[in-house]
Amino acid sequence: MKAGKKSYKRYTVTSALPYANGPLHIGHLAGVYVPADIYVRFLRMNNEDVIFIGGSDEHGVPITITALQQGISPQAIVDKYHEIIKKSFEEFGISFDIYSRTSDKIHHETASEFFRKMYDAGQFIEKVSEQYYDEATDHFLADRYITGTCPHCGYEEAFGDQCEKCGTSLNATDLINPKSVLSGNVPVMKETKHWFLPLDQYEPWLREWILEGHKEDWKTNVYGQCKSWIDQGLQPRAVTRDLDWGVKVPIEGADGKVLYVWFDAPIGYISATKELTPDWEKYWKDPESRLIHFIGKDNIVFHCIIFPAMLKGEGTYIVPENVPAFEFMNLENDKISTSRNWAVWLHEYLEEFPGKQDVLRYVLTSNAPETKDADFTWKDFQAKNNNELVAIFGNFINRTLVLTEKYFDRKVPPQGNLSNLDKATLEEMTQFPGRIADSLHKFHFREGLAGVMNLARLGNKYLTDSEPWKVFAVDPERVGTALNISLQICAQLSIVAEPFLPFSCTKIRQMFNIPAYKWQDATLLNWLPAEHQLNKPELLFEKIDDKTIEAQIQKLMDTRKANESPVEPRLIEALPEITYDDFVKMDIRSATILEAEKVPKTDKLLKLKVDTGLDQRTLVAGIAQYFTPEKIVGKQVSILVNLAPRNIRGIESQGMILMAENPDGSLYFVAPGEGAINGATVK
Ligand code: 2FM
Ligand code: ZN
Repeated sequence: MKAGKKSYKRYTVTSALPYANGPLHIGHLAGVYVPADIYVRFLRMNNEDVIFIGGSDEHGVPITITALQQGISPQAIVDKYHEIIKKSFEEFGISFDIYSRTSDKIHHETASEFFRKMYDAGQFIEKVSEQYYDEATDHFLADRYITGTCPHCGYEEAFGDQCEKCGTSLNATDLINPKSVLSGNVPVMKETKHWFLPLDQYEPWLREWILEGHKEDWKTNVYGQCKSWIDQGLQPRAVTRDLDWGVKVPIEGADGKVLYVWFDAPIGYISATKELTPDWEKYWKDPESRLIHFIGKDNIVFHCIIFPAMLKGEGTYIVPENVPAFEFMNLENDKISTSRNWAVWLHEYLEEFPGKQDVLRYVLTSNAPETKDADFTWKDFQAKNNNELVAIFGNFINRTLVLTEKYFDRKVPPQGNLSNLDKATLEEMTQFPGRIADSLHKFHFREGLAGVMNLARLGNKYLTDSEPWKVFAVDPERVGTALNISLQICAQLSIVAEPFLPFSCTKIRQMFNIPAYKWQDATLLNWLPAEHQLNKPELLFEKIDDKTIEAQIQKLMDTRKANESPVEPRLIEALPEITYDDFVKMDIRSATILEAEKVPKTDKLLKLKVDTGLDQRTLVAGIAQYFTPEKIVGKQVSILVNLAPRNIRGIESQGMILMAENPDGSLYFVAPGEGAINGATVK
């Protein structure tokens, strides 16, 4: 096959591996998976040797953060979401040859070997640097574990690796007022060793390969981002992290360190290919294989600069031939956001619109964020379904079948003498497959789909102009010819629409009693022979009413409302009344913490030595999740000193430290305030 400048023997098509920390939404489908699926279905119909690789990205900080938020292990998180994501892909007909996962053994081995080979060849720089560290929890903080104010746009919730508001890629040290996500504390700097990929050394090659070699064929948004990165000057980039979740760094002296998720994840494409076929190397090492990465725009630098530099550095791999990155799909004029639940979730869509996968595929493709961000609205979804899929595509197929049933007993009538309209229509038909193919080779999916709809429009107009319902009484043979041509258009549609609307095309083939054709068959004009028996017509698409759409809009409005109203903390109810005499029985004194240590084998307990003014005594407090021992020594607190001693984990606790507790369980010392000496009574 000739695609672009070179000839290729096969295609290796990858689609970004989604993080397995949440379900998929329409933005995922629109920006990556539907276009990738259209492309590979089209290639397969052209008898190309193509593999379509997908899988879950199961490492990295987003996963550990979700695990932290949900209070379960990272493995439990990825197990859960891998299955949910995989199922959504299957249900939407995303036709991966393999859908793998990066927590698989084969991936850990492949990524380790890749790193090791580069390490042994001296391709990394070893550097000790200072990194943010959370003293309260004893953790080095990955960039995502730090939030603060973006120095570019002032957004206060920016992450240490990227500002989600303005999209700028950041280093944690760029943030103003950094805070640890783990404890909310201000992090400190601490030394740690890491391995860096010297991207600066790849700059001359990247310039030649991308800036000179792909100016014409890469999308302007992709080329532009690469140029701006390269022109700004590339810096060495750390490819390891201090984290306990991921692929262990396979060298001595790297305990507690894993490969950076953006180092291991793209290698996931290779591991998945290995899992798919023992013949994997030809897809990754033969220069006659065309490697194409489908991704969203936030992944451009990783797929166009960092991963290619890794592939080049390793030395035995090909580099991508094209990276058709899409922009973002918004929802009702607002950025899709998982945390704000501003999304149309695929699993919910499938429940609410069963059997309508092609409708969503259609709407997302006809409005694909190919060159700029696009907006999904429910009104537009309804309009595209009712006015295009139902009124044009479905209507044409249905009218043709119903009329053939009515006049010819569901048998294809022969083509008789051709009128000028017949000839012109047949001539026009021949143009479509080539034009649509050109669009798809250029990754112009919207244009390709518009071509499909124009073919349906041609069919509709032809049928209307032929007026079989009027002509049949006087010239049945003429009607036979008109229906024959209409049926050929339907069959042609079932071929050229297949990559876009696979479920509907399967239905068309069933109704037409025909096999799955190859793309080249679409240019034959007579592949439905006279007398071919058709099956019963069924409706391909149905109208979606206003009530259904209003319910979806209402659901989003409810989400917006919920996001806007701040959550009121729910205080615990007041206790029953007591008397003054009850109160004065409590002897509360101002005291100072002299010593503090964790009680072994417990998560929550600290053993404290306090000076109460009256004496020095020991007590055990359940505050270890909020305070580290070294941070609280010297603090002045309030102690209930006449509480009967209690034995807690073998330690006699002589009193109780007073704490203020928020509804979320967070704790604060009740401090007597400046000037109060140890032993001062608290009343
Ligand atoms: O942006 C993301 O969702 C990443 N998980 C994509 C990874 S793509 C590849 F490199 F694996
Ligand atoms: Zn910003």
